[in-house]
Amino acid sequence: MSPITLLGIESSCDDTSAAVVRRHADGRGEILSNIVAGQTELHAAFGGVVPEIAARAHAEKLDLVVAAALIKAGVELDGLDGIAVTAGPGLIGGVLSGVMCAKGLSLGTGLPLIGVNHLAGHALTPRLTDALPFPYLVLLVSGGHCQFLLVEAADRFHRLGGTIDDAPGEAFDKTAKLLALPQPGGPQVERLAEEGNPSRFAFPRPLLDRPGCDMSFSGLKTALLRARDACIAETGGTGLRAADRLDLCAGFQAAVADVLEEKSRRAIDTYLAATPAHPAFAVAGGVAANSKIRGRLQSLCDARGLHFVAPPLNLCTDNAAMIAWAGIEKALLGQVDDLTLSARPRWPL
Ligand code: KG4
Ligand code: ZN
Repeated sequence: MSPITLLGIESSCDDTSAAVVRRHADGRGEILSNIVAGQTELHAAFGGVVPEIAARAHAEKLDLVVAAALIKAGVELDGLDGIAVTAGPGLIGGVLSGVMCAKGLSLGTGLPLIGVNHLAGHALTPRLTDALPFPYLVLLVSGGHCQFLLVEAADRFHRLGGTIDDAPGEAFDKTAKLLALPQPGGPQVERLAEEGNPSRFAFPRPLLDRPGCDMSFSGLKTALLRARDACIAETGGTGLRAADRLDLCAGFQAAVADVLEEKSRRAIDTYLAATPAHPAFAVAGGVAANSKIRGRLQSLCDARGLHFVAPPLNLCTDNAAMIAWAGIEKALLGQVDDLTLSARPRWPL
């Protein structure tokens, strides 16, 4: 099979990204460029991503980011085989900006247009980084999503369970907000948790008493709020002590890690019951950048004799390389779109 080279575009949340990815004749994926322009500072004053601000910033930056990705890759538009773009799910203004940019490029060049599901992008990343064969199990854990997916083919995902309320990344971000830490909260909370005592606060481990792989993280946020207020009350209302903040972060992170580990154990049991030839468990999504959580999942896989795949941190968080790769996989299945492609705020796999 001849090599295939795609431009990928991602703008579903607060990262404007463009990448050029090539699938070589032997099936190996190569990232020729992967440019990510974050928007953290634009949203900092608001304590979370503001959809209108995000959409405007995407619209302003997309052309530049696409140009930078092509230059870095040393590829001209006519050296591409197609354009892949996140068509959902996500913040609709941002998704629309990306889709319009991709449509313009497709119209101007005649290159095929491929609409990619953002979640498929995360879930297929282990095939780009590690050439994982199907079927594998993936825990997709990010700011907006948390689910176990059995990846049977590039267009066949079977959901084994997931969160019934908040996603863990959202909980990390809210925790950071409650503790007056900058956004995105995950890396901040992880940094402070390293020095804290994870057992000082008895945070809940929701749904562990129920069978199955479903999870819940909203109660954890309420528990953290109460514990924080109790700490502030202890100081007579003067504010959180540094040690309180460290212990709150450590306790919160330990609770999330416990839930993810135990539910992963159950998802792995279900997956292994189907006796795949080369069993593998992968993590994807922004929260997969958390080294504590990665470590727990690695040990779990080691104990079960499962190959564990955790992509490099820059491919765990939102990026366009994963979209380009998922686009390549779709193109190989003959799934190509046209200019009627629409942006979808919701798009379950
Ligand atoms: O996949 P992603 O970039 O965007 C979504 O599709 O949601 O994930 C972003 C999320 C944010 O909530 C961020 O706080 C979280 O991933 N995150 C982390 C870490 N790095 C990023 N959470 C925990 N620990 C980290 N080190
Ligand atoms: Zn994502």
